[in-house]
Order: sequence, then structure tokens, then C-alpha cells
Amino acid sequence: MLISIIYKYSCQFIILFIFQLIPCCVASPCLFTTNIYSNGLKQQLQVESWGSDSIRIRLSPDVIIQTPDYQALLPEKPILGKDNCQQPNRNTFINGNIEFIINDDTETWSIQRPSDGLILIQVQSTRFLPYNYPVSVYSPVYTLYELSSIYTHVQHGYLYGLGQHHYGNNITLPYHNFHLPFVFSSTAPTNGDITIPWYLHTSGFGFLWNQPGYGSFDVRNDTEIMWTANATHQLDLWITTIPKEATLSSSFYPVLMKNYVDVVGHPNPLPHFASGFWHCKNRYRTQNELLDVAKGYYDRQIPVSVIVIDYFHWTAFGDWKFNSTCWPNIPEMMSELKSYGMKLMVSVWPHVAENSENFITMNTTGLLTHDANGSLLPTTGLTNHFYYYIPDQFNPATRQYIWNRIKENYFAYDIKTYWLDADEPQNTRPELQWWYGRHDDEIAMVWAREHQRLFWDGLREEKEQEIIMLSRQAWIGSHSMNVAVWSGDIDSSWEELLKQIKVAQNVALSGIYWWTTDIGGYHPVGLDDNEFQELILRWFQFGAFCPLFRLHGYRYPPLPDNECGSSGGHNEVWLFNYSRQIIDIIQMRESLRSYIEYHLNISTQNGTPILRPMFYDFNNDIECYKSEDQYMFGSDYLVAPVYTYRATSRSVYLPSINQQNSTWQHYYTKQFYKGGQRYNISTTLDDFPLFVKITSNDIDT
Ligand SMILES: *[C@@H]1O[C@H](CO)[C@@H](O)[C@H](O)[C@H]1NC(C)=O
Ligand SMILES: *[C@@H]1O[C@H](CO)[C@@H](O)[C@H](O)[C@H]1NC(C)=O
Ligand SMILES: *[C@@H]1O[C@H](CO)[C@@H](O)[C@H](O)[C@H]1NC(C)=O
Ligand SMILES: *[C@@H]1O[C@H](CO)[C@@H](O)[C@H](O)[C@H]1NC(C)=O
Ligand SMILES: *[C@@H]1O[C@H](CO)[C@@H](O)[C@H](O)[C@H]1NC(C)=O
Ligand SMILES: *[C@@H]1O[C@H](CO)[C@@H](O)[C@H](O)[C@H]1NC(C)=O
Ligand SMILES: *[C@@H]1O[C@H](CO)[C@@H](O)[C@H](O)[C@H]1NC(C)=O
Ligand SMILES: *[C@@H]1O[C@H](CO)[C@@H](O)[C@H](O)[C@H]1NC(C)=O
Ligand SMILES: *[C@@H]1O[C@H](CO)[C@@H](O)[C@H](O)[C@H]1NC(C)=O
Ligand SMILES: *[C@@H]1O[C@H](CO)[C@@H](O)[C@H](O)[C@H]1NC(C)=O
Repeated sequence: MLISIIYKYSCQFIILFIFQLIPCCVASPCLFTTNIYSNGLKQQLQVESWGSDSIRIRLSPDVIIQTPDYQALLPEKPILGKDNCQQPNRNTFINGNIEFIINDDTETWSIQRPSDGLILIQVQSTRFLPYNYPVSVYSPVYTLYELSSIYTHVQHGYLYGLGQHHYGNNITLPYHNFHLPFVFSSTAPTNGDITIPWYLHTSGFGFLWNQPGYGSFDVRNDTEIMWTANATHQLDLWITTIPKEATLSSSFYPVLMKNYVDVVGHPNPLPHFASGFWHCKNRYRTQNELLDVAKGYYDRQIPVSVIVIDYFHWTAFGDWKFNSTCWPNIPEMMSELKSYGMKLMVSVWPHVAENSENFITMNTTGLLTHDANGSLLPTTGLTNHFYYYIPDQFNPATRQYIWNRIKENYFAYDIKTYWLDADEPQNTRPELQWWYGRHDDEIAMVWAREHQRLFWDGLREEKEQEIIMLSRQAWIGSHSMNVAVWSGDIDSSWEELLKQIKVAQNVALSGIYWWTTDIGGYHPVGLDDNEFQELILRWFQFGAFCPLFRLHGYRYPPLPDNECGSSGGHNEVWLFNYSRQIIDIIQMRESLRSYIEYHLNISTQNGTPILRPMFYDFNNDIECYKSEDQYMFGSDYLVAPVYTYRATSRSVYLPSINQQNSTWQHYYTKQFYKGGQRYNISTTLDDFPLFVKITSNDIDT
């Protein structure tokens, strides 16, 4: 094996040596390069320290690209207090508590943890096949391959994270992503399904697949994993683990999340207004309809932070402006909302229709998606008899152009919160489309992040301080641009409520810090349905303990059409049967706002999400891994939502608290409970099993 090593003494100079000439332990080598052979094919390998107890591994049949254009990792290597890199022999590279070893015989490699000798990853094979670059007017920026990588997790355990997967591929299998096996036959985004290529493993490590394009992910069983990338130049992985001094019995999930945000970017503090109640429905058609509802809340003294205008308030797709027949006086509307203390969020779809006033300019200046021949590519299907198109958000000129429209039609009226709906983007044509000269396969996972960048850059250019956008998609890095995510269009059912309780926890460990569901579910259910009335109350109890607290949905029967179109039925909280209880929940959320903001501030510092599985705080308690229908909300609240109809009780597990003088207290009954046990907790419609961790001198534990 040909070995050459680059010793990196400092940023200033890099010296190349031949391995044999280097005496051991002279310096601290933090970059290791060599060649390995797979099926006779020479591959270049580059391994380097990348954060505490973390390494980045790149492998390609070609020259390694040092700073890929679209990637999950921040371009700058994180700065460490001290370098812990060593290269004890020619096949081994160590950074702190993580060790990379080339297996001489098989030309494969593994990653171990020196402190306990655990093999985190044992690579079985990494295959690069020629990528069939589509016949087109474009040419690749660099050589592309179809990549597949198979490895095993030697240690049994579970994977958490990977985004928001509500059905996955197998729609007959209710989504249960705490349990394997699970296959994403495609990482391509859909409504309600988001792939974040990062997971935590319960044996104390985290894994990031740094690929911006399409591919697949296959957990064949608890131990064997396969990733593929449709079109990429190189394998690019980042792996992190716990420090030497930590043990598996110490709380290690916060350490892994801290390492994660250090390399992908930290989240920012949540703007204060966003921690309150968001009212929304499909849809307010006119200014009067919206203001009536806003006034209804105000008159009843029900606090609303944000009220929302959904789609089709615009003239044409891609005009990005109000229809003045239905929305005649925006300044007046804004000043009335302001007097009620409410912010406005408006829905902004990315699509541009042929009848938009911006279409000709955007077409002739090349701001829309192209096909292989460089011709304009419409989405599938017609809307209102017009073709519509997806803007090429990879092109900076597109982002600037659209921001200018948003700025003149919304921002200028003080509307600064945007709902980036349908940004998969909906109805695109995978495989056929090209973005700024690159094929879909190669970079499409990042489309939503570039779309979000448009608003982030625009708002920051305007020196806006309170930025939050709500999006149906996300990728790694979205969280640093103040993107909040919601469930997508989900069912109004008890099954869905339970799924969302589980989805929420994986989303959080995926590094999506601001998240919400449609309280009550989205798909039509009648207000005259007693079961729905109870469902929406229970959903409010869950919703108040999500990072964002937002009501939305299409209720049935719809309102009669008027000149400004169609609309779902009423969704105002005072119309629900259990309005008294729901309003109590809204008041309770009000009282929790500084607690929530405090915990989201902690996320900005160390990446710990406010909503998290119980094992995040109690990782020694095996029962916490099994109790997926309850979770922690910050360090003090344990939330066990009720998700069955006519429930009078539910089973709740209370973890044992490892702190003196601490115990669990039922929020409503004030009764104390000892941890380390399962309880049958009774509930009425006025309460639910919510527990507070109490620490006090008065408690005898
Ligand atoms: C979906 O899941 C069910 C239940 O586990 C299983 O029987 C079925 O084979 C799966 N289908 C596919 C296409 O994976
Ligand atoms: C990726 O490649 C596979 C295999 O060629 C193909 O089936 C799939 O459609 C491609 N695209 C996506 C979005 O997965
Ligand atoms: C996991 O799946 C792979 C591929 O199907 C199989 O070869 C292996 O034996 C399985 N391992 C276990 C522990 O089931
Ligand atoms: C605005 O809405 C009205 C009422 O629906 C409609 O007649 C009109 O065509 C719309 N205007 C534009 C410019 O789309
Ligand atoms: C877009 O512009 C090109 C010329 O730049 C023109 O040939 C084409 O017809 C236009 N597409 C549509 C749908 O108008
Ligand atoms: C591109 O043009 C060629 C030659 O006119 C044609 O055969 C092919 O179908 C076109 N491809 C697309 C994607 O339109
Ligand atoms: C909900 O309210 C409606 C209308 O007042 C009533 O008919 C229905 O019985 C109520 N349902 C429950 C469960 O109280
Ligand atoms: C959160 O951080 C922001 C910005 O540093 C600060 O203004 C705010 O007071 C903090 N909130 C809480 C509750 O600590
Ligand atoms: C839980 O308690 C309720 C009464 O509050 C009782 O009806 C129910 O049977 C109990 N369930 C279990 C599993 O013990
Ligand atoms: C627990 O309570 C006892 C007696 O009330 C007190 O002396 C002790 O300091 C407390 N311990 C802690 C860790 O707060």
C-alpha cells in the first residue's frame, strides 16, 4: 500500500513526508491521506480531525474535493481547544476518543472508540460505479459516480434522527421510526417526509452522510446499514463520539448534539413573538374574514401571537402579491392586527405560473428550472389551466429577483414572517430537471435550503432582528437560518396524533429545533363529529408542549364559495365543544413562554433540543427507551399526551431521578410520584398526565 502522509503543523504550512521517515510522536498530525484499493480500483482516502472526538472521512477514485459546493458541514473546520490527533502507526489515525483503522487484508476500514474498544462502524464495502450522466447540454463540474456504502454497527442499539418520516416507504407499516428495519428507497422529499442524513446511535455516537443529492438509506436490520448516493464525486462522512472521560452511563446525548451543532451550525434564539399561540386555517379569503377572526380572539382576550394567511391570497402563482379585490387595504389590516398585538404570517409558494407578471422576465433571464436541453421545464399538471414552473433557487440571481418582489409586496407593509409551503418543491419532475447547471440527482436535497436562504439573506440585508420562517422541508443547515418545520398535511385521527408524538422526538434529534404539527390534523373532519371534538382538545394538550404552538387545518363542511374562492370550515377555538379547556391550554402555554425561550436559548449554546425523548435526560433507564409515547419538554416537564378516544387513564412511566431531593409532581393534582416506576394515571378532559420535576429541600427522597 502506498502511504503518504500530510502532517499539518498549523494553518500556515503543510509538509509532505513518506511514512517510513517519520518518527512516531513528533507532531500532532490532524490530517491523514493514503490510497486504498477496492476491486483493483485505486481510491484516495482523506481522514482528518473535525471537532472534538470526531473525524471526517472522504474517499474517491479521484482527487478529493476539499470544499464541496453544497454540503451539510460548515466549510470551516471547527477550532479545537487542543488537538488530540495521533498517528500511532501507518494504518491508524486517532482524534481524541475516535480511531480510524485501515484493515490491511481486506482493504476495508473501521472506526472504533479507544476508551472502551467498541467498533462503531465496520465498513463492508464502498463501491463507486460510473454515473450515467444524462445526455444534455450541460457537462459535469467534476466526475460523478453512483456510490453505495455498506457498513455494520457491531453494537446492537437504535438509531434516532434522520428527519421527519411519517410513513416512510411502507405505507402499510405505521410509522414507528424508533424501531427498525426501515428503508427510504429514496431520500427525495415529499409532503410530510423530510430526510436529514444524520442519526444518533444509542451506543454513543453520531453519523452524518454528507451528500446533497438523492439516494437511499436502508437499515436492513439493527446492525447492517446501506446508504447510496445517485450522483456524487466522493464518499464524505462525519462521525462523532463521546469523550474518553465519559462513559455510557453518563449523559452523552447532549455531548453528541453539541459536537453536531459545532460542525453544522448552531440554531439562533427564537424570536419572542413566536413562542405564543399561532392561529391558522385553510383559509381566510378576504381581509374582512381575517380581521373578524382576529377581532374575535382579541374581544375574547384569547392571546394570539401570529395569525396566518394561507395560499391563494395572491393574484397568480409567482406574482407574490395580494389580490387587491380580496385584500383591499393592507396598511389598514396591518395596523388593526398590530393593535391586537398580532403578527401576520403569509403563505409564499415558490411556483411561477405562465400567467404571472414575472414569468416572462424569469424565463428570459434563466431563473426557472431547465430540462436536459436547456429548455424551460414545467411541473407536472396544470393549475387553473396554466403551466407552472419551479424557480432555480441555486441561482443567486433568482433569489435576489424573488426577494425584490417579496420586499415590495410584503416586507414593505411590515409583513416579515413567511410560510414557505410546498417547498419540496411540490410537483417537480425528479431526474428531468437541472438547477444552475447541475442535475437533480446531484444536489436536489438542498433545494429547500437554498429557497430558505432567499428569505434569510433578504431579511438580514434589511437588518430584520426577529426572523422565523415556517417550512414544509428542511435540510441540515436550515435550522441556522431560523427555519421552523411543521408536520405537513396530516390526518385528523388518533393514530396520527400518536405518530406525531413519536415523529416529534426524532425530528428533535435530527437537529430541527423549531417544530409544530397542525393541531387537530389537516385533512377534513367535521366539527359536528364528537370524536373530533375530543381529538382536537387532546391535540391542543400535545401542541402546547411542542416548540411552536400552532392550530391549522381544513375543517368540514367547507364555507360556501364566494368571489374570493373556497375555504374550509371554521377553526376558531371558541367554536369547539371543549373551548373552555382549550383556552385554558392556551393560557398555560402563555405562562410557559419564558421557560420555552430559556430552553431554546440552551439549544443555541449546545444543540440540546427542548422536546426530546426521555432517554436523552435519563440514558441509563432502559424503560425510557421503550416509552415512546411520552417525552421531556426541557429539563423540568415530562409530557404524556392522551391519544385515545374517551380515555379515563393512561399508563405513564416516570424515570428515576438521580438527584437528591427531587421527585415528580403531577401538574394538575399536585400529587408527588416516585421515579423508576410505571403508573396508571387517570385523566379527565380538564387535564392530562403532565409531570414536573421538583427539586426542593422539603422532599424526602
Ligand atoms: C410493509 O410492512 C409490512 C408489515 O411489516 C410487511 O408485511 C410488508 O412486507 C412491507 N411491505 C414492503 C413493500 O416493504
Ligand atoms: C436515484 O437512482 C435510483 C437508481 O438509479 C433511481 O431509481 C431513483 O429514481 C433515483 N432518484 C431518486 C430521487 O432517488
Ligand atoms: C442483517 O442483514 C444482512 C443483509 O440482509 C444479513 O447478511 C445479516 O446476516 C443480518 N444480520 C443480522 C444480525 O440479522
Ligand atoms: C382578484 O380576485 C378577484 C375575485 O376573485 C378576481 O375576479 C380577479 O381576477 C383577481 N385579480 C387578479 C389580478 O388575479
Ligand atoms: C421561454 O423563453 C424562451 C426564449 O428565451 C422561449 O423560446 C420559450 O417559448 C419561453 N417559454 C414559454 C413557456 O413561454
Ligand atoms: C432534447 O432534444 C433532443 C433533440 O431534439 C430530443 O431528442 C430530446 O428528447 C430532448 N430532451 C428533452 C429532455 O427534452
Ligand atoms: C358538541 O356540540 C354540539 C353542538 O352544540 C353538540 O350537538 C354535541 O353534542 C357536542 N358534543 C359533545 C361531545 O359534547
Ligand atoms: C434568550 O436569548 C436572547 C438573546 O440572547 C435574550 O434576549 C433572551 O432574554 C433570552 N431569553 C431567556 C428566557 O433567557
Ligand atoms: C387504570 O385506572 C382506571 C381508573 O382510573 C381503571 O379503570 C383502569 O382499569 C386502570 N388500568 C389499568 C391498566 O390498571
Ligand atoms: C435535601 O434536603 C435536606 C433536608 O431538607 C437538606 O439538608 C439537603 O441539603 C438537601 N440536599 C440537596 C442536594 O439539596
